[in-house]
Amino acid sequence: MTELNALDQVREKLREHGQEHVLRFIGELSEADAKFLLSQIESVDFPQLVELHRQLVIEKTAVAAEETIEPMRADSWEAFGISERASMANQGMRALRDGKVAAFLVAGGQGTRLGHDGPKGVFDIGLPSRKSLFQLQAERLLRLSRQSGKTIPWYIMTSEENHDETTAFFKERRFFGIPEREIFFFKQGQMPVVDEQGKILLASKGRLSMGPNGNGGCFLALSQSGALADMQRRGVEYVFFYSVDNALVRVCDPHFTGFAIHSGAPAASKAVIKAGPREKVGVLCLRNGKPSVLEYSEMSEDMLEARSGDGKLRYAAANIAVHLFTRDFLETHVAAALPFHVAHKKITFLDETGTSVTPTLPNAYKFELFMFDLFPLSGRMAAMEVIREEEFAPVKNRDGVDSPASARALVLALHRKWSLAAGLTETELANKTVEISPLASYSGEGINPALIRSQLGNPIIHVS
Ligand code: UD1
Repeated sequence: MTELNALDQVREKLREHGQEHVLRFIGELSEADAKFLLSQIESVDFPQLVELHRQLVIEKTAVAAEETIEPMRADSWEAFGISERASMANQGMRALRDGKVAAFLVAGGQGTRLGHDGPKGVFDIGLPSRKSLFQLQAERLLRLSRQSGKTIPWYIMTSEENHDETTAFFKERRFFGIPEREIFFFKQGQMPVVDEQGKILLASKGRLSMGPNGNGGCFLALSQSGALADMQRRGVEYVFFYSVDNALVRVCDPHFTGFAIHSGAPAASKAVIKAGPREKVGVLCLRNGKPSVLEYSEMSEDMLEARSGDGKLRYAAANIAVHLFTRDFLETHVAAALPFHVAHKKITFLDETGTSVTPTLPNAYKFELFMFDLFPLSGRMAAMEVIREEEFAPVKNRDGVDSPASARALVLALHRKWSLAAGLTETELANKTVEISPLASYSGEGINPALIRSQLGNPIIHVS
């Protein structure tokens, strides 16, 4: 077939789906750029894209009236008896020691809302040590690995837009002391970005506007990258999923791992009590009887405000994006067709005259998969309620709520609390900032008060 024929065929396929405009500038491209554009076009599932635009933008399918949504019960760790807690903690630690637990970080997002143009994990929230989010997580993993006697493998999902920067960051910092062979980086898939009419936007004359396909793209990426096979080879049975932007995340928490194993459910999730009806978090619920998460943006006013008889929020189990799946469950369901969600965003694009336009209002739709949409397939899920001040310090916005400043304050308040529990007094710590390295303590254990006392002459105390 001649090249002209091949191009005509692409044009015809695009025309069928109302997308022929993406070839508008092909005559101006070098051969290499044209080839790149054609390969991008080749990767798009056009019927799927047209259908998503119809369902999610034109018809706006949300929660249907006939659906039933019930709150999901979350068990608090403290509600278990002492011996049950000890047994779950031992079970978790044993699984870590036996090499059955892996950490899986979804880090394909960018820090756009933070005003940070790059991978969120490289962000430094301003702790005295100036550690990045990645470093805090790495050190928690190192501490646990040392405690259990077995290095925890770390799987990190990046995206096309941040992969190189992420891997370079780790390399420059020598993987924070974790053996390189224990870290597995791989990229998630992409989806085209469309305008109000469902037309794919051009990022430049030779490039479609593409974005990462949402954190739920992790399942296919796990299998296509070979990460899941690697887990199997290593004998991993439990996969701890978490997101990059929680400065207090207890990566591979042995308590939670033990709790999940003890429950016998193929999926488990941590939750905190929602701070108020307007907190921008998803809530764990039972949707038509099946475990699910309903995002803040997908809840009606009535649902957001609903209260139980005791005046507490009815949908109160906030999703903190900490989940555990068994590898068996993942292997069965990695290729499941999950529903897409839509986000209306401001995206810079090339208009029909070839001029780059940066809109002031949302102009584009992104279609994204969510990782918690695997929950309904589990049939049964365990939810563990944890203490917000100990485990949830989200870093989402530049200022105010869920910002670097609020996360930093939460981390330092917790370290102060641990110091007091280790024997320091309020008087001793007056006007002092204490930062405890995750290498010294994972969740408050093993703090040496003498080490803190020896630094009381300084305004900032480092425990490392
Ligand atoms: C997420 C949860 C929300 C929860 C909140 C708690 C989802 C869809 N929503 O909201 O229910 O209450 O955390 O903080 O999980 N990511 C990728 N690839 C992508 C997009 C995002 O890897 O294509 C990663 C991000 O890097 C981040 C995580 O997913 O680590 C969550 O980010 P985001 O999708 O922005 O969800 P939130 O709005 O933070």
